[in-house]
Amino acid sequence: MADGRIAVIGSGYVGLTSGACLASLGHDVVCGDSDATKVAALSRGEVPILEPGLDEMVAKGIASGRLTFVHGATAAAKGSRYIFLCLPTPDGGDGRADLRIVHNVVAEIGPVLDPGAILVTKSTVPVGTAHDITATVARPDIAVVSNPEFLQEGTAVRNFMNPDRIVVGSTDRVAAEAVAELYAAFGAPSVVTSPESSELIKYASNAFLAMKLSFINSIGALAETVGADVAEIANGMGFDERIGPKFLRTGPGWGGSCFPKDTRALATIAADHHVQFPLLEATTVSNDQAQDRVADKVRAAAGGSLDGVVVALWGLTFKAGTDDLRDSPALAVAGRLAAEGAVLRGYDPAISVDVKAGKDRPDVTVVPDAYSAVAGAEVLVVLTEWPIFSELDLVKTAEGMTGRTIVDGRGMIDPAAAAAAGFRLVPLGRPAH
Ligand code: UDX
Repeated sequence: MADGRIAVIGSGYVGLTSGACLASLGHDVVCGDSDATKVAALSRGEVPILEPGLDEMVAKGIASGRLTFVHGATAAAKGSRYIFLCLPTPDGGDGRADLRIVHNVVAEIGPVLDPGAILVTKSTVPVGTAHDITATVARPDIAVVSNPEFLQEGTAVRNFMNPDRIVVGSTDRVAAEAVAELYAAFGAPSVVTSPESSELIKYASNAFLAMKLSFINSIGALAETVGADVAEIANGMGFDERIGPKFLRTGPGWGGSCFPKDTRALATIAADHHVQFPLLEATTVSNDQAQDRVADKVRAAAGGSLDGVVVALWGLTFKAGTDDLRDSPALAVAGRLAAEGAVLRGYDPAISVDVKAGKDRPDVTVVPDAYSAVAGAEVLVVLTEWPIFSELDLVKTAEGMTGRTIVDGRGMIDPAAAAAAGFRLVPLGRPAH
């Protein structure tokens, strides 16, 4: 067991999952957040985000006395040996992460840290941040360790409790190994590196996965035109251990709170250091094209014009299992349709209020069930892989629609059931029948 308490600063998605999971390993964890209302709610066990298993994990932590919540970073940091920084690092608008919150917190807690405390950066931060934090703290007795998270929304608890690897980077190897030791119960390999390598591992991993998705989506476009099937291709590729079977599902592009931001940030880091990295730009361009292609199919299904056409959207979140709409590919496609005059009605199991237009989304009227979404719709497009979309009654779906085409952006619709219900099914990555 860790010798010393763990403070987790920031009770957002990463901080709360990390705090609750570390407490479940038997560590004493105190989570500090600047939002007093949130702290009060969390202390009562009320979890503000949709993340399977997290409520139970938080409840257990509170009941065991190993997980507590306090208002403010200083209250949590004081008396703790490990201080995990799980703070927002938003896109600063120029592709660079905005680190003001991180540096403000470090400046605030620096003077009150116990001698020998270890600051751990968990949020995704640009290369050089551990170095900069060391300068901000300006205390030789305080070590800084980069320990990036690799959590996926919707499976964050499972990811945390079953890591593929633990990455720790620091100029202080003893401190890095002490942080790795916090996860010893998992038996996962520890990768001990310099802080710069550790920081870059996170960006490289996310950008690589985004590139893999862009690649398979482009293969899908090719498959459609040559009469091949992208799922068969992915299956055949995935058995090659150097490639692997995961992240080869075609879809309406990738999105979410990490991939777009991190791919842009890595491109900016490369440009700042005068390193040419054309794959990153191509990864993003290919993603835009994947979204264009889905919009093209919907327009074609509507007879060439979307002006005034009612389009039903099944799925709005950036993937299934989350209520997160940030940089959602579903909304990126919806934005293309709205720009051409389509009227959008959406259903998503995790969304209950209308989507209002913003930089990454159009206005979408949100209805409470999948069948209401298709009422009066000319085209139905499936944009998020919620399992329920495979189970719905397609005969009932057809009844409410004026048109008879489903554009299946996620491979959720059974072709035989669609045909039986009188639908023309337009898939991705293989020719339409
Ligand atoms: C990602 C990384 O996976 C995670 O390691 C990191 O810590 C944060 O960013 P997340 O944003 O939760 O996690 O989403 P992820 O599950 O990776 O999916 C990203 C996007 O790719 C989604 O839009 C998803 O629908 C899409 N995707 C994923 C596909 O289109 N096909 C696939 O095969 C896999």
